[in-house]
Amino acid sequence: MHIRILGAAAGGGFPQWNCNCPNCGGVRREELNARPRTQSSIAIRGADETAWTLVNASPDILAQLHANPQLQPGRAYRDTGIRNIVLTDSQIDHTTGLYMLREATKPWPLWCTDSAFDDLTTANPILQVLRRYCGVDRRRIDVAGEWFAVEGSEDLRWQAIALPGKPPPYSARTPQPGDVIGLLVEDLRTERRLCYAPGVAHIDSSLFELMSTSQCVLVDGTFWTDDELVRLGVSHKRAADMGHLSQTGGMIKWLDRLPATTRRVLIHINNTNPILVEDSPERALLSSHSIEVAYDGMEIVL
Ligand code: MLT
Ligand code: MN
Ligand code: ZN
Repeated sequence: MHIRILGAAAGGGFPQWNCNCPNCGGVRREELNARPRTQSSIAIRGADETAWTLVNASPDILAQLHANPQLQPGRAYRDTGIRNIVLTDSQIDHTTGLYMLREATKPWPLWCTDSAFDDLTTANPILQVLRRYCGVDRRRIDVAGEWFAVEGSEDLRWQAIALPGKPPPYSARTPQPGDVIGLLVEDLRTERRLCYAPGVAHIDSSLFELMSTSQCVLVDGTFWTDDELVRLGVSHKRAADMGHLSQTGGMIKWLDRLPATTRRVLIHINNTNPILVEDSPERALLSSHSIEVAYDGMEIVL
C-alpha cells in the first residue's frame, strides 16, 4: 500500500493566512527552519498505481493535486487518479475540497458515516450542491466496524474506528458515534495495516489495540500542549475542547507503548505547534521517541 501525504497541516494550514504567531510569521519571513504545509488530506492506493482513494478533501486540494502528479494518470482529456473519496468527519478542512472536485465526469463514490452525511446535507449542504454538478454516489461507513472495500482497490480493506470527538463547530447536532472516525486500512496481499486518525480526543485501550496491530500509525499531531492556543492568546479553546489529544498531554506516552517496529507519524499539525520547526527542542524530543512529523509530499509504503 502506498500512502501520500497531500497536506500535513491542520485547519488553516501553515502558515495560516491571518496568523502572526512565531511559527507563521517566521515561516512567512523565511526565518525559520520549517516547511509550509497545506491542510489535512492523504491519498492511498493498493497495487493499481492509477486507483487512489482520497481520504478527506482539503480546501487546498487543487494545489495538492498539482504537487502530486502521481494522481493524474493522463489517460483522457478529462481524467483523475482519484477513484474514491473517504471522509473521517465533516469538518471544513476535510470537506471543502469537494467543491473543487465538481468537474468530475461521473458521480463521486463518497464514503462517510451517517453523522457526517447529515452535516454535509443540512448545516453545510455541500453534497446537495454537488448534485447539480458531478453528483455524489454516497456509500455508508458503518461505525460498528464492518470492513469495506472501495471500487478499483479490492486489494485493500477498510474499517472505521469510532473515535471520541464532536460534530464540527458549524453543526448544531448533539454529538453521536460517527462524528469522528479513524480508519484502519489493510493491504490484503501483505496483511500490513495503516491506522489513520487525524483527530483523536483521547486514546483508549480498544483504539490502542488497533494501533498496536498496525505497522504504521498516522495520528493526531495537532497540538504540542493542551493549552497551546490559550497560552498564545489566540483562542480560549483547549486542545481537548477541539477533540485533539496533545503530544505532551498523552500522545507521546501512548506512542511509546507501541511495538518498537511500528512507524509513528504525526499528522494534522496546527500552525502553532513548535514541532513544525525542524531544529526545535520539541522536535528533537519527538525524534528521541522515534516519532516522525508528516510533511506535504511524504510517501509511506507499507
Ligand atoms: C479541527 O480539526 O479541530 C478543525 O478542523 C478546526 C477547524 O475548523 O479548522
Ligand atoms: Mn481539522
Ligand atoms: Zn500561526
